[in-house]
Amino acid sequence: MNILITGGAGFIGSHVIRRFLKRYSNYTIFNLDALTYAGNLENLKDIEESKNYKFLKGDIVDAGFINKIFEQYEFDGVIHLAAESHVDRSIEDPLAFVRTNVIGTVNLLNAFKDISSNDRSSKSRFYHVSTDEVYGSLGETGLFTEETSYDPNSPYSASKASSDHFVRSYGETYGLPYVITNCSNNYGPNHFPEKLIPLFIHNIIENKPLPVYGDGKYTRDWLFVEDHAVAIDLVFHEGKNHETYNIGGFNEWQNIELVKLLCKQMDRKLGRAKGTSEKLISYVKDRPGHDLRYAIDAGKINRELGWKPSVTFEEGLERTIDWYLNNAQWLKNVTSGAYQEYYNKMYS
Ligand code: NAD
Ligand code: TYD
Repeated sequence: MNILITGGAGFIGSHVIRRFLKRYSNYTIFNLDALTYAGNLENLKDIEESKNYKFLKGDIVDAGFINKIFEQYEFDGVIHLAAESHVDRSIEDPLAFVRTNVIGTVNLLNAFKDISSNDRSSKSRFYHVSTDEVYGSLGETGLFTEETSYDPNSPYSASKASSDHFVRSYGETYGLPYVITNCSNNYGPNHFPEKLIPLFIHNIIENKPLPVYGDGKYTRDWLFVEDHAVAIDLVFHEGKNHETYNIGGFNEWQNIELVKLLCKQMDRKLGRAKGTSEKLISYVKDRPGHDLRYAIDAGKINRELGWKPSVTFEEGLERTIDWYLNNAQWLKNVTSGAYQEYYNKMYS
């Protein structure tokens, strides 16, 4: 089986690739990634020599390139993660999100529909990895279910909602076998330090301010990235075609409470006096269109496929902090830009 994973050099994709290579020696895993600022092949250093792994550098917006690789490798299944993924960047440059998240996804759908292997085994499907942000914002109570109407508020979530709709429409119109998952906020090793948790770990190490948006009372549901990779594996193999599944951590935190916990753990790990890191908290101008609260009802994937998160937040956060402290060079290469020079030259 030739399996195409897009965005494999990114945060979640690298964990998915590692898991698939460990578990499925009968698959050849193709990692298609444009190596944007968020792509870093250092995330996959430990597996890059695997004989059933192949890296393809390319842009999903380039339909000619996409059609060519589908003709060449006749992928049996696609797990699509490549995306522009940061809300703040989407506010600065919405079109970049339209290009990759919408046009790129439609290019992949077209290629899968027209060119993929005709031998459609049960695993031959297009799996779109999406976000709970498509549902918009919750008030103080309630949970997103698979039946919640889409109501995206940021250019990022609008582009992901659009790509979800295209995937579903290809199922209805062309009979394309697909599954979609909508997952809550991930955290863990290899997370690019622009998102809340890795940015704040980095800033605490460097004694830099921790910019909390608005009053800090925004709530997110956090899931350890390896638990997400387990869910993706399960849904790819056992999910029902034409279904969507919500994935979440049953783990809601107000930003300010999370940041205070992180500060405490970092003080302990760095041997700093209690309260040192909290002094770095700085309330800054709010994000425009900031969604108040996300919270997932992950009951369907639990009932139907038996998935639930296995890592508690305290354990996951500790593992994440340890990873960043033990991988200072990774962080240094990312913040200096050295990672891009190295890999972009290698694959230019
Ligand atoms: P990321 O930003 O860390 O990685 C994205 C990867 O896609 C990078 O390797 C990048 O080089 C690649 N890429 C970007 N544009 C490309 C293009 N035009 N062609 C080819 N490759 C391109 O993202 P992530 O956090 O790992 O998220 C992966 C997927 O999961 C995304 O689709 C995102 O919407 C979804 N998701 C993320 C979260 C989260 O908390 N991070 C939660 C739910 C869903
Ligand atoms: P983020 O990690 O960007 O994920 P998302 O916007 O997809 O949920 O942000 C998580 C929360 O943290 C969100 O409410 C915005 C907030 N936040 C800050 O307060 N300061 C920051 O510097 C960042 C990056 C995020």
